[in-house]
Amino acid sequence: MWLFAPGMNSPNLTVLATGGTIAGAADSATRHDYRPGQIGIGEFLARVDELGVDAVFSGQQIANIGSEDMSPAIWADLHEAASAAIADPDCDGIIITHGTDTVEETAFLLDLTLPTSKPVVLVGAMRPATAVGYDGLRNFANAARVASDAQAAGRGVLVVMGDRVFAARDIRKSRTRGTDAFQGFPRGSVGLVTPSALDWFGAPWRVGEDARFPFRVDLPDVPILFVHAGMTPDYADRLVSDNTRGIVVAGLGEGNMPDSVRMALVALAANGMPIVRASRLEEGLVDREPEDDENRFVAARALNPQKARILLQMLIASGISDVGEVQEYFDKR
Ligand code: SIN
Repeated sequence: MWLFAPGMNSPNLTVLATGGTIAGAADSATRHDYRPGQIGIGEFLARVDELGVDAVFSGQQIANIGSEDMSPAIWADLHEAASAAIADPDCDGIIITHGTDTVEETAFLLDLTLPTSKPVVLVGAMRPATAVGYDGLRNFANAARVASDAQAAGRGVLVVMGDRVFAARDIRKSRTRGTDAFQGFPRGSVGLVTPSALDWFGAPWRVGEDARFPFRVDLPDVPILFVHAGMTPDYADRLVSDNTRGIVVAGLGEGNMPDSVRMALVALAANGMPIVRASRLEEGLVDREPEDDENRFVAARALNPQKARILLQMLIASGISDVGEVQEYFDKR
């Protein structure tokens, strides 16, 4: 545990560190190759201390990994630490440092499994700490601004990147490089932030909401079927094992797929396996179509395949697999 304290009335923020590029390092300030998850939370907060941010930070190292290695076991540790901070009357807000590659998945999982009573803000960087133009400190100072704001509570879990605040349900990484790598859909962003200013677009909308699902480490096996031209039904068959409990389709356009693949999935759906149609495209809704009733498919609406997968895992783990009920959760904001 590391403590950094500027003023008597400053907000108390708990920082849970998991690694990523925000804690990344390279041998030079200009080389592209670097290793994520190199800098510990103590060293990171010592650098933050020099920024003069008005907050008292207490840091905890949950992991120090590239977020491609994020796992249910680390999610469990993160969830436990975040829950403890939410229950702690001395904690005003929580910041989670995270790699940008899977930050949208962790944010959405926490959004579904934490109450909305305190600000929970994830933050990352696109450039490692040793790079010229490192964006991690600015993003972190912005995240501190958001996590200190009472108006941040009741919006669900938030992600701060590139001077913008996104809701966990909306955010998606849409570029491989550059500090403006994130988009929100259907809401572009819910606020704008700099280290000295914060503007919300509208009032909080999930004020005081309890966790929607209990956190579970033993999430069921739900693979994603990525559809492409020339696909044959055996792709679907090869994806399914004895452990498979549901499938998310990263479909063409509005969740489309070749007829032969659809027939293979209809057969699985007829045996009670939930099948969710999402889109492999960057943005746009996948709405229910008349044949979804007949096929017993679910439409992912605004969720991309990786988030649709997490929601479907939560639902199945909670014993919800009826098509109508699953669809209701996908329709929910
Ligand atoms: C990662 O996700 O850990 C690497 C990429 C990044 O943080 O930007």
